[in-house]
Amino acid sequence: MASVSLHNIVKHYDKTPVIHGIDLDIADGEFMVFVGPSGCGKSTLLRMIAGLETISGGTLRIGGVLANDVAPAQRKLAMVFQSYALYPHMTVYENMAFALKLAGHKAAEVRAAVERAADILQIAPLLRRKPKELSGGQRQRVAIGRAIVRKPEVFLFDEPLSNLDASLRVQMRVELSRLHGELKTTMIYVTHDQVEAMTLGQRIVVFNGGRIEQVGTPHQLYNAPANLFVAGFLGTPKMNFIPAEVVATGAARVSVRLPDGAIVHVDGVTGAAPGEQVTLGVRAEHLFVAAPQHEENVIQVAVGHVEYLGDQSIVYTTLAGLPGMIAVKQGAEAASLHTGGQTRVHLPPSRCLLFNAEGHALQHG
Ligand SMILES: Nc1ncnc2c1ncn2[C@@H]1O[C@H](COP(=O)(O)OP(=O)(O)O)[C@@H](O)[C@H]1O
Ligand SMILES: [Mg+2]
Repeated sequence: MASVSLHNIVKHYDKTPVIHGIDLDIADGEFMVFVGPSGCGKSTLLRMIAGLETISGGTLRIGGVLANDVAPAQRKLAMVFQSYALYPHMTVYENMAFALKLAGHKAAEVRAAVERAADILQIAPLLRRKPKELSGGQRQRVAIGRAIVRKPEVFLFDEPLSNLDASLRVQMRVELSRLHGELKTTMIYVTHDQVEAMTLGQRIVVFNGGRIEQVGTPHQLYNAPANLFVAGFLGTPKMNFIPAEVVATGAARVSVRLPDGAIVHVDGVTGAAPGEQVTLGVRAEHLFVAAPQHEENVIQVAVGHVEYLGDQSIVYTTLAGLPGMIAVKQGAEAASLHTGGQTRVHLPPSRCLLFNAEGHALQHG
């Protein structure tokens, strides 16, 4: 097992910069997820760690040792890609054994390692099959098995579940968490899927345009996003954003005016100035149809369409003066809410976030 530490890592292709100076420490044994939209540089960074791309600037340490110019095979890493890249003419056993045989391990050692990995991944009955006789999920297990037998210091995964259908992805997600619990090896996992990131990562790095937006636990990123990008990237439906103007500030409470003129109080925020233009952020699941006793922090909205999801409904509403929609997550039977009707929605003051004109979250004080 090993820590991985990046200091001011830069990458450019010819003259085009794609990674702009990444500082990041991944602890020994940690499950770290890199998430971000397509093209933000996740794979490039992972491939630099693996040694498959040159590093244009900065330092990479693996297990505390400078690794910038260490050959990929000497880095003691194992990488699993989206495409399984199994050898079609070899059996599952031979695919998993290949790297160890090549490295000159004794036959008995190779057998023990392959059988152990097959047990962990529950593919022992498949060892004699060829890849074409396996389902997509089974092939991906073999690809992971091939990585496990090498007993790497660090596992690198680049969107390994993207080719699988939805239910299999959920199952493999659970298995990867279990695998990490069992092996306790450092894992770096790249995905563009925020649900995968939230469910797998002990910590998550959110990337955007070759830069880090925020690093933290799933809980930290979801509940205290550092900026509008992170706030909008994690969570379905997307966090509601409403432009607002600060009208009053107190010790622990800021009052803002929404586009329709309604005044909303936000608790636990400091650093706002009266007259400042801000964005109020609030998640759909924190909004609810106001009961008659709610007088403060209530907005009057028109009900657009209602999405029935079985276990819940998402009600899309409009607020006077706001071009976009405000999503409200309700219990399955949002009985009182009908398209074309009006309703009052309560915004809990402790659940509202404020972002300044640069998109940075105002501090919670
Ligand atoms: N070999 C390459 N040559 C030039 N540009 C590249 C190359 N590989 C990736 N890029 C560019 O680098 C950026 C990051 O790509 P990538 O790391 O693959 O993103 P992600 O994995 O987050 O989708 C993209 O703009 C991509 O076009
Ligand atoms: Mg990629």
